[in-house]
Amino acid sequence: MQYGYFDDKAREYVITRPDTPASWSNYLGSTEYGAIITNNAGGYSFYQSAAQGRFLRLRFNSIPMDQPGRYIYLRDRDSGDYWSTSWQPVGKPLKEYKSTCRHGTAYTVIESDYAGINSQTTYFVPLGQLFEYWWVRITNTSDRPRKLSAFTYCEFSNNWDTSQDLVNLQYSLFIVKGEMRDNLLRIAINDNLTVDASNFINNDQSRHSWMALLGAPIVGFDTDRTSFLGTYRSYHNPLAVERGLCSNSKAYGDNACGSFQADLDLAPGESRDLLVMLGIGESGSFGKCTVEEFGSVSRAEKELQTLKSTLHSRLESLKVETPDPEFNSMMNVWAPYNSQVSFNWSRSASLVYNGERNGLGFRDSVQDVLGILAADPEAARSRLELMLTGQVACGGAIPVIKPFDHHPGSEPAPADEHFRSDDCLWFFNAIPVYVAETGDEAFYRKILPYADHGEATVLGHLRRALEFNLERTGRHGLPCGLEADWNDCLKLGYHGESLFVAFQLSMGLAVYAEVAGRLGLPAEAEWARKQREVLNTSIQKHCWDGEWFIWAIGEDGTVYGTKDFAEGQVYLNTQVWSVISGAATPEQAEKAMQTVKDRLATPYGLMLSAPPFIKTSIDVMRAVLFNPGIKENAGIFNHTQGWGVMAECLLGHGDRAYEYYRAFMPAAYNDRAEVRQCEPYVQAQTTYAGISPRPGNARTTWLTGAAAWAYFSATHYLLGIRPEIDGLRIDPCIPSTWPGFKVIRQFRGKRLEIVVSNPNHVCRGVTSLVLNGETMEGSLLPIQLLKNENRVTVTLG
Ligand code: GLC
Repeated sequence: MQYGYFDDKAREYVITRPDTPASWSNYLGSTEYGAIITNNAGGYSFYQSAAQGRFLRLRFNSIPMDQPGRYIYLRDRDSGDYWSTSWQPVGKPLKEYKSTCRHGTAYTVIESDYAGINSQTTYFVPLGQLFEYWWVRITNTSDRPRKLSAFTYCEFSNNWDTSQDLVNLQYSLFIVKGEMRDNLLRIAINDNLTVDASNFINNDQSRHSWMALLGAPIVGFDTDRTSFLGTYRSYHNPLAVERGLCSNSKAYGDNACGSFQADLDLAPGESRDLLVMLGIGESGSFGKCTVEEFGSVSRAEKELQTLKSTLHSRLESLKVETPDPEFNSMMNVWAPYNSQVSFNWSRSASLVYNGERNGLGFRDSVQDVLGILAADPEAARSRLELMLTGQVACGGAIPVIKPFDHHPGSEPAPADEHFRSDDCLWFFNAIPVYVAETGDEAFYRKILPYADHGEATVLGHLRRALEFNLERTGRHGLPCGLEADWNDCLKLGYHGESLFVAFQLSMGLAVYAEVAGRLGLPAEAEWARKQREVLNTSIQKHCWDGEWFIWAIGEDGTVYGTKDFAEGQVYLNTQVWSVISGAATPEQAEKAMQTVKDRLATPYGLMLSAPPFIKTSIDVMRAVLFNPGIKENAGIFNHTQGWGVMAECLLGHGDRAYEYYRAFMPAAYNDRAEVRQCEPYVQAQTTYAGISPRPGNARTTWLTGAAAWAYFSATHYLLGIRPEIDGLRIDPCIPSTWPGFKVIRQFRGKRLEIVVSNPNHVCRGVTSLVLNGETMEGSLLPIQLLKNENRVTVTLG
């Protein structure tokens, strides 16, 4: 079943039927003013934090998932019939009601056709602003004059703190006021208090929002939700709309809403633009000034163009043309855009993430950097600096960094038993790639504070990260699992050992040795090499089970993941990371990845482990609490899929790498969207595996490590365009069926047009590399030979 298509030229995904199997969403705004909008105009808005700055309400786990939202109701004043400019919430029969939704880069356009009236509503937050536009053009497509009323609707949170708003009702139902002043709706919370802008996390302060409607005379308004909706009604049949008249209600406690009524008379063929503006700040000052400056259709149009061109320019760092159009749609628009959104909001704001995870999860946010590096190296650098200052002096990390409330040098360090074992080891993936992208080797020498006390160069931070794990090893010489390794469910405690972290550490030591060598610190490099040798010897001694690697050794000496184990016998992460880290022997690498193919590969992706956990102790593997076949309990955890692809590419298995890639690639499901159910244009955290009753259903979209790793593994490994400090490595590992592909890459301010041909249908192996007519040795394009414009031809053989 197909619900839409990719319009790559416009960089949009176009939903042609509104009754998608789940709400298909998009993001608007920035990390200052963020917003979520679905194909039926559902969603909410928030200032800086979805947990503590949420001023538009979403009732989580609601039916449907995305209500309330940003609605515009239209009513025919002659017939009394009414509908909404998005299919929901009124939900007219789809035989009579047509709707198209175009999700673009930080804007969404919803078009509707019903009863001879066409509407086109564009939602976006102008760049750098603290307000949103809903710009609606209403056209009379019938052959008779029409008298219409338009009603806006949004629902304000009472308290901007989500849990206070939704749970502490004996307090939150008594703090809101709504009124109309100078043609603006003024919504005030805790109006008797003052604004404490410098202390964002202080809930006991006054908070303001405002709304304006331009383009037609205002006939009425409502700021009290019950007055607008009526009792025993809902968003699909509001009393004010049914009656055809707002009641000019002023919220005083209970719940507030934002509704304006405007009446319009349209001749056949006539169009009218209405402009809704909604933002935060005091209506009389901030709201008024904003409307004065931005309150015209021509300004809205200009702002939309600026937004589009700015966001589109971030997609220019890499453009691909391969034989796979679905892969192209992902690479050219959605994978980088999805990565950007995950980078912005970590795991804090979506229809599923309700802000309970408030801030930047440490491990996730360091990994997210990999998805935006080429597009926005500046943002990558500042995020890396922020995360480095979330590392504490002993080398571990604070699990969640709150950018709006982070004080390096004086943060309390977590208790020793609460450290995650993997957190800072992700720096060894992200930082070298940042340096390779930019050439900014001086970054390693930059001095940054630790979260709790003291400071060190970035290289010093990296050494502390390694020492943290080296100082916390168990009886078999492997790093301890602590509170969790990458797998939140794995509880190995202070003495149990994690092989996944051992592989991370092995890779980290190799990276450190190389960096130290380049920086002219041979003793440091030697130290890291020695440590790695000792670690790899322990891995070889205790962790290979003949056809695959085990995954852990418990505090009591139990070895998890051997042939003798009934549950969690084979675990994906240790197989793929044995290859990525370079710690496996070539034979082990081949065998381990063959085991992955035989035991974990499904048409929808690689299972995290198999068989599922049912009787395993929850004290060791909390995944047992999930239904078998989903999430960490033998589900397909999409975060890990890119690692599977990378491991296969490292072994030169392009056919298999690509098969794995398509299995979890959202666009590959566009014409059978009922399988995944969620958006075919973005990644999801997890997919139900074949052992569940619902194979292929995917859940928890947008904010996931799958976004960055999917983009990174495709660009750096499948396409093999890999920055190094000395230049750009071209080492594709593609399916043998591809005759070749083209890439346009921006690299350190230079543009490269790369044409790869594969006449002999191999997967990997560059036999000729020509840069601007000159044949190169090997597969590196040296930085000193790059001009502003470059033509590169590559032959595989
Ligand atoms: C979630 C978490 C991530 C963790 C993963 C596996 O995606 O956000 O930090 O690594 O689950 O447990």
